[in-house]
Amino acid sequence: MVTLYKGNFIDTPTSDKFRVRENGVAIVEDGKFLSLETKVPARFSSLPVKDLGGAMVIPSFIDLHVHAPQYLQMGAGLDLGLLDWLAHHTFPGESRFADEDYARKIYPLFAAELLRQGSLRSVVYGTVHLASTLILAQALEKAGLFAFVGKVNMDRNAPDDLKETTKDSFKGSDVFCRRLAGLDRVRPIVTPRFAPSCSQKLMEDLGVLSKRLNLPVQSHLSETLSEAQWVAELFPKSRSYTHFYNDCGLLGPDSLMAHAIYLSDEEIGLIVEREATLVHCPSANVNLSSGIMPLGRYLDRGVKLGLGSDVGAGHTLAMYRAVVQTVQVSKLLRILQPQENHRAVSLSEAFYLATMGNGSFFTRQGWGACGAFEPGMSFDALYIDMGLPEAAEISALTQLERFLYAGDDRHIKARILAGREL
Ligand code: GUN
Ligand code: FE
Repeated sequence: MVTLYKGNFIDTPTSDKFRVRENGVAIVEDGKFLSLETKVPARFSSLPVKDLGGAMVIPSFIDLHVHAPQYLQMGAGLDLGLLDWLAHHTFPGESRFADEDYARKIYPLFAAELLRQGSLRSVVYGTVHLASTLILAQALEKAGLFAFVGKVNMDRNAPDDLKETTKDSFKGSDVFCRRLAGLDRVRPIVTPRFAPSCSQKLMEDLGVLSKRLNLPVQSHLSETLSEAQWVAELFPKSRSYTHFYNDCGLLGPDSLMAHAIYLSDEEIGLIVEREATLVHCPSANVNLSSGIMPLGRYLDRGVKLGLGSDVGAGHTLAMYRAVVQTVQVSKLLRILQPQENHRAVSLSEAFYLATMGNGSFFTRQGWGACGAFEPGMSFDALYIDMGLPEAAEISALTQLERFLYAGDDRHIKARILAGREL
């Protein structure tokens, strides 16, 4: 089935600049973008044209790192550092998901907020609880969103009510991953929380599981100095934090590692060699005083990068905020470390991360290409209109900049995923 959309299309097929195509007619067939024409082609003249005119149409956002159970916790306790925040706010909040009825109440709210903010694809952490995390997967599926969902693993350094035995933790993930095989839009991802909360045996078993079921992996890496120090003490046999994941078979082209602020040159080299993706979460890094990822340097070294909201250490699910925060913290790093030659990341580079960069993870997992308006890509789009007066003659690109910095979900007028309006 062919659908026609008229509008001002803006995307970043490359990260160096925004591509603006005004007054275009997008030809979309069976959910895929075919081409952008200047007028309705004669062969489609009998079809109605959906008018997304006015301001702009952009690729929908993708959130590559977010914790669904922390949705209600957004903004709470953020004066603490990571490990205290986990102990005093996050773990008690996640414990409540032992109750499936609670999960049934909360997770649909999380899915609705993702949708409202225009994040139509996401990679999501649940909790250690199998039943509740299955409910999370169903909530996302029901909302019509595309997602990877992981049951979290923790067999040590966790409160008693969240701590699993090594055997149960593995078994829970095994069952979870096989159960999700039946869902269409939501798929499983292996999710050891981070090195301190898993024994080496559990980590190695999860590495085997991801290979056996051919599944991607997500975890946290080197978010704070105190955590990195702790990991060095816990796993003295591994050369570094990054090497530890690699030693356990958890670092490869299908691995997402969030934060990665404090990496040695050697670790960066290993990330590049293993083709793993680092997920930048600027909101969380500032909130927990963790540090600033040297994003410009990583980009220039050829590291694969993505962007995440990291709610609830991050305080908003709006990925347009993460785009702006990415630019802002890159400028701060340059100001704070003038001798280090950091470069500021541009708005188009940050937007690219939230669309194309994050999309390449989905593409690699066999969902088909997405992230821009290129022939053959999934037609994932947001129609944005800030209601600016025409008399002001503000260009579509300037309106996009304004939306990213100062807009909000009220300005997202339509959300389309794989050609389907949600
Ligand atoms: N490291 C381990 N768990 C977490 C978490 O839930 N959030 C963040 N930001 N870092 C973590
Ligand atoms: Fe996180």
